[in-house]
Amino acid sequence: MSQTPSPSGAAAVASAIRERRTIHEFRPQIPSRDLVLEAIEHARWAPNHHRTEPWHFYFLAPEAAQRISELNAELERAKQGEQAAASKLQRWMTMPGWLVITCERNADEIREREDFAACCCAVQNFMLYLWTQGVGVKWATGAVTRDPNFYSTLGLDASVCRVVGLFWYGYPAVVPEQTRKPLAAIVSELS
Ligand SMILES: Cc1cc2nc3c(=O)[nH]c(=O)nc-3n(C[C@H](O)[C@H](O)[C@H](O)COP(=O)(O)O)c2cc1C
Repeated sequence: MSQTPSPSGAAAVASAIRERRTIHEFRPQIPSRDLVLEAIEHARWAPNHHRTEPWHFYFLAPEAAQRISELNAELERAKQGEQAAASKLQRWMTMPGWLVITCERNADEIREREDFAACCCAVQNFMLYLWTQGVGVKWATGAVTRDPNFYSTLGLDASVCRVVGLFWYGYPAVVPEQTRKPLAAIVSELS
């Protein structure tokens, strides 16, 4: 039976939303697969118009993560040279958990846009739940995630899905500070 949230539930949701941060530096321990599956279980309760459930969650095994790190280093080498590529490769290889989330493509532009919006809602659910379990996430959408070789190296078909992001997850080593604009800068009334 559905229930409306309790005041203490509201406080817990508010603090998860306010305190979640994008994590850039992780401790080495990889969170359990079961915990991430729990987060995916909650993620999929995101609103989605026409209940299309357009998302797919792919865990990357270490060899897949290595191929993506090498592809990223290759792109970096072409742009910034060998040293930058080596340092990127080294950094990427320290990332603990790896996940790719995709969204189904659709010939109908509006449906595709709405499905992408739904996937972003699912991502937020995913990140918020993990945050309540002490696990941080970084959502990455760098050039590598749009590269055709990203799709081919993971066996994804770019004609049927779009990469919403590459997600690193793990226990935070550093939790950055963040700020937001004041409410007055983003709230108005139209008459
Ligand atoms: C669609 C999307 C793509 C993002 N891509 C990147 C990225 O490629 N690299 C990165 O460092 N952060 C990325 N981020 C994280 C943002 O930098 C981060 O959310 C922002 O700095 C605010 O920090 P917070 O998440 O801790 O509130 C992305 C966030 C979103 C929503």
